[in-house]
Amino acid sequence: MDPEIKKPITELGMVDSVEIRDGGVVAVRILLTVAGCPMKDTLRRDTTAAVSKLPGVTGVEVDLGVMSAEQRAALQTQLRGGVAEKEIPFARPDSLTRAYAVASGKGGVGKSSMTVNLAASMARSGLSVGIVDADIYGHSIPAMLGIADHRPTSVEDMIMPVPAHGIKVISIGMLKPKREQVVAWRGPILDRALVQMLADVYWGDLDVLLLDLPPGTGDIAISVGQRLTSAEVIVVTTPQEAAAEVAERAGTMAQMVHQRVAGVVENMSFLPCPHCGPEHRLEIFGSGGGRRVADTLTRRLGYDVPLLGEIPIDERLRAGGDSGTPLILTDMEAPAVRVLTGIAQRLGGRPRGLAGRQLGLTPAGR
Ligand SMILES: Nc1ncnc2c1ncn2[C@@H]1O[C@H](COP(=O)(O)OP(=O)(O)OP(=O)(O)O)[C@@H](O)[C@H]1O
Ligand SMILES: [Mg+2]
Ligand SMILES: [Zn+2]
Repeated sequence: MDPEIKKPITELGMVDSVEIRDGGVVAVRILLTVAGCPMKDTLRRDTTAAVSKLPGVTGVEVDLGVMSAEQRAALQTQLRGGVAEKEIPFARPDSLTRAYAVASGKGGVGKSSMTVNLAASMARSGLSVGIVDADIYGHSIPAMLGIADHRPTSVEDMIMPVPAHGIKVISIGMLKPKREQVVAWRGPILDRALVQMLADVYWGDLDVLLLDLPPGTGDIAISVGQRLTSAEVIVVTTPQEAAAEVAERAGTMAQMVHQRVAGVVENMSFLPCPHCGPEHRLEIFGSGGGRRVADTLTRRLGYDVPLLGEIPIDERLRAGGDSGTPLILTDMEAPAVRVLTGIAQRLGGRPRGLAGRQLGLTPAGR
């Protein structure tokens, strides 16, 4: 049994060869879905145990290889039940939805907080907004929007996104059978979960889709890059030197998968002094990280990567996340909200129209 897919490895095309040698030694060659699969020891142990039990077997040798791209693709098709993959509407060349992937080099810099507040701001200004919470380890979006206990409903074979504050939400956490289950998905299974969230969910016509990514440059970031090449990346960083450096890596990674970087958001930029007021900035996490990432990426990528804004530390922003109501919905005047609103307008209000797009129409009457 594959420990993750929970199907016999013989049915998954993972058994490359079985050789019975003189004296009853059996050599089994297994193909892993990805190199360095952490389940490989389990596979080796389980296979040895299963084959050892057979009559006449005196020894078992398990050799591990890796599937080719074609073999992996065949496995993915098989996991989908042989059904051709559903189309991701946002990946169509004529899609009018602007997709943004919110990324960072390291964890805890405020990706999810930015995602929910930007989405709430855009939704309030009348845009149709969806959030895909693709953070397999954290999936904190539902709690930040007050829908932690909600499960999406299904209609026929479509999954309905969960509504929250006018935003349509789907979380990778909602796809798990049990909430407390620890997810150890990687590679093809993670990719499949992403496709499911994009293609099997009934999004309707969205103006903007925000994807909250896990920190770093892992499997899901690669999948998003491959599945949604047109998605632009928003890099979130803190003012800190170390955070800035890893954030640059996230930006460079976007280039590798041919995504454009829409801009950089510096979060936790400063704490407005509780005594003197906001003009006295307490730079708790240092300064300049956002500017530095924006400049570095501009140079490295060869186009303007703007610093979209510097968000101050605000205890109420944290509290809004904990209570499930983004601060942007309760205090329009908070300095952090003002900056966030500006960013939301800039990203959400960009002209999307059909100008310059191929419509596949032929002018009539000429
Ligand atoms: N500007 C801010 N002021 C105060 N608290 C903030 C601010 N930004 C984020 N936080 C708080 O910091 C914590 C981490 O933020 P968040 O979960 O949004 O980060 P993340 O980058 O999504 O983390 P992860 O990498 O774990 O997904 C949260 O408790 C959040 O409420
Ligand atoms: Mg997060
Ligand atoms: Zn002061």
